[in-house]
Amino acid sequence: HMVVIVCNISLRTVCSYYLLSIYWEMGANQTIVTEFVLLGLSGHPRLETIFFVLVLWMYLVILLGNGILIIVTIYDSHLYTPMYSFLGNLSFLDICYTTSSVPLILDSFLTPRKIISFSGCAVQMFLSFAMGATECVLLSMMAFDSYVAICKPLRYPVIMNKDTYVSMAAGSWIAGDITSAVQTSLAMKLPFCGDNVINHFTCEILAVLKLACADILPNVISMTLADVIFLVFPVLFIFISYVFILSTILRIPSAEGRRKAFSTCSAHLTVVIVFYGTIFFMYVKPKSKDSLGVSKEDITDKLISLFYGVVTPMFNPLIYSLRNKDVKTAVKNLMGRKLFAE
Ligand SMILES: *[C@@H]1O[C@H](CO)[C@@H](O)[C@H](O)[C@H]1NC(C)=O
Repeated sequence: HMVVIVCNISLRTVCSYYLLSIYWEMGANQTIVTEFVLLGLSGHPRLETIFFVLVLWMYLVILLGNGILIIVTIYDSHLYTPMYSFLGNLSFLDICYTTSSVPLILDSFLTPRKIISFSGCAVQMFLSFAMGATECVLLSMMAFDSYVAICKPLRYPVIMNKDTYVSMAAGSWIAGDITSAVQTSLAMKLPFCGDNVINHFTCEILAVLKLACADILPNVISMTLADVIFLVFPVLFIFISYVFILSTILRIPSAEGRRKAFSTCSAHLTVVIVFYGTIFFMYVKPKSKDSLGVSKEDITDKLISLFYGVVTPMFNPLIYSLRNKDVKTAVKNLMGRKLFAE
């Protein structure tokens, strides 16, 4: 069904695109946009300096923290379990996600009215969307892993065998990439004819859709579908998994056993709450429809979305390593081996 709907939507978009381009060739005085301008924080030089330093610092922390976690999950044989393999993927994802937007954001702080080509914008949009969608799916895969570990401990090695967890990780990446390819091509196929100033730091899909001079209803429908599949379903899935997990934990007779069981899933639960909490905070809160000029409120909105893009990737490795003995030991071993080798 979804495939049919998506195909219909893309057919309609293609048709309206061709109709509009015929209209232009017939002499309407409209130009076709070949590049976009990123407004960023233009007009606030002091804020630009402060946020340049802040975002650069956070980006370096993200690279360092997630980099260490990836190295540790690949090289430490104590961490060869599905959970740490997912964690390594999550860290890799966080690095890719921030790398797809932070360099552009920093550049937009240095260059007022930063110009980005049409195709550059499409690539950036694709990468950010793909990483975001992949992260949603990966987090629900991790919830399933915790569920099996706690509720079906005896069958865990059978259920979560290597084939299963490798295809779960691969499936997350593939699903995220496909949905992003669909959404990005639907958005970039729209006609853009005059206004090319994106009131954002990056080519965020909603900010770009606002500039299209055609009916964006098909895009809104397909975005809503993607939101249901990649946000609502995973949240429900994670929520139901945790209902089972908590009810199993509460039935464990000893306090020590309960604490141990809870500690295996508390890190994942924290990441889930931070990740979805920020997404819902960003998208669900009421937005002012007024797009005239750059109001104060507008700046606050942009800064909030900027922060939430970097806060979760920065805290993921901290949450895992601070709360987790195995990771701490592995990091210590890694450092120790390095020092010893020198
Ligand atoms: C991601 O997951 C796959 C499959 O589980 C694993 O082989 C790979 O090492 C992981 N990648 C990282 C960077 O941890």
